[in-house]
Amino acid sequence: MSFDQRAGLAGRVAAVVGGGGGLGAAVSLALAAEGVGVAFCDIDDEAAAVTAGALSDMDIPHVGVHADATDPGQLQAFYRAVAEKFDRLDIVVNVVGGVQQRPFGESSPADWDSDIARNFGYVLNSIHLALPRIRAGGRGGSIVNFTTIEAGRGAAGFAVYAGAKAATTNFGRALAVELASEGIRVNSLAPDITPSKGNFNAMSAKRRAHAASFPDQQPKAMAVYIPMGEPPMPEHLADAVLFLASDLSRFVTGGTIHVDGGTWAASGFLNWPHGDGYSPAPGPASRDRLFGTTR
Ligand SMILES: NC(=O)c1ccc[n+]([C@@H]2O[C@H](COP(=O)([O-])OP(=O)(O)OC[C@H]3O[C@@H](n4cnc5c(N)ncnc54)[C@H](O)[C@@H]3O)[C@@H](O)[C@H]2O)c1
Repeated sequence: MSFDQRAGLAGRVAAVVGGGGGLGAAVSLALAAEGVGVAFCDIDDEAAAVTAGALSDMDIPHVGVHADATDPGQLQAFYRAVAEKFDRLDIVVNVVGGVQQRPFGESSPADWDSDIARNFGYVLNSIHLALPRIRAGGRGGSIVNFTTIEAGRGAAGFAVYAGAKAATTNFGRALAVELASEGIRVNSLAPDITPSKGNFNAMSAKRRAHAASFPDQQPKAMAVYIPMGEPPMPEHLADAVLFLASDLSRFVTGGTIHVDGGTWAASGFLNWPHGDGYSPAPGPASRDRLFGTTR
């Protein structure tokens, strides 16, 4: 059997929540390139139109719907559109999520509700709406939830987001066990620091301004932080979705794939510049530059 035949993606149908732009569009287009019919919803009409145009050019059956994933009625309308367009559903990718960094003490209950809905609550709705359609096919299926590296570490300024994504991760793990006997798999994909609108909006105003003023510092900073030396791109995430959606991962469920160039593995070990190399705290040369020479 060829690699494509082993993957078995051609002819399947995917629902991509947040699939009209940015990271979600990369997922929609990667699935389409493997012959998967794509239904997506998004709130960014401009990006969605570009993605729909690309799917038309690829001659792939598709439907794009304007829907805010955090509004249960709009999400329901999206899944109705999926059922009207396609007679099967095999793959669900819940891409939507995000936050802006802020101290917990400066956030309000309304902020928490919004962060929880955007990073956990809608995922429940999306899967609940999708399940009957996946089950109707009797062929099993694959559900992929975008979480984050922050779901497993103490990310200051991201406490509610980190908690909500951790909830999504463990919800997915438990659901994976519940659905395993039906061949419906549930996995998480944990990115970090991938360029996107959401990633830009997550930064504080001070960080954004600094990044804009000193663009040449960014690659050097990334080489300190990311073992593989540069940030993952949307296509790297989309490739991991292809694996999780395909039969190549047919015995993988309840897991998390970290698509981050090794940052999760490093867990705080940084590659300090000026010859200091790897350690959690700065080495001698970096200490001298940061804190002044004491020798
Ligand atoms: N970009 C990163 O560095 C990074 C890091 C860790 C985790 N993640 C996770 O990856 C996912 C996507 O990341 P992103 O936000 O940076 O990508 P993104 O900014 O490219 O957004 C993806 C798409 O989702 C759409 N979208 C946003 N809110 C929506 C809503 N309420 N309803 C429907 N569509 C909506 C956007 O319009 C966009 O087209 C999120 O779950 C995020 O938490 C991203």
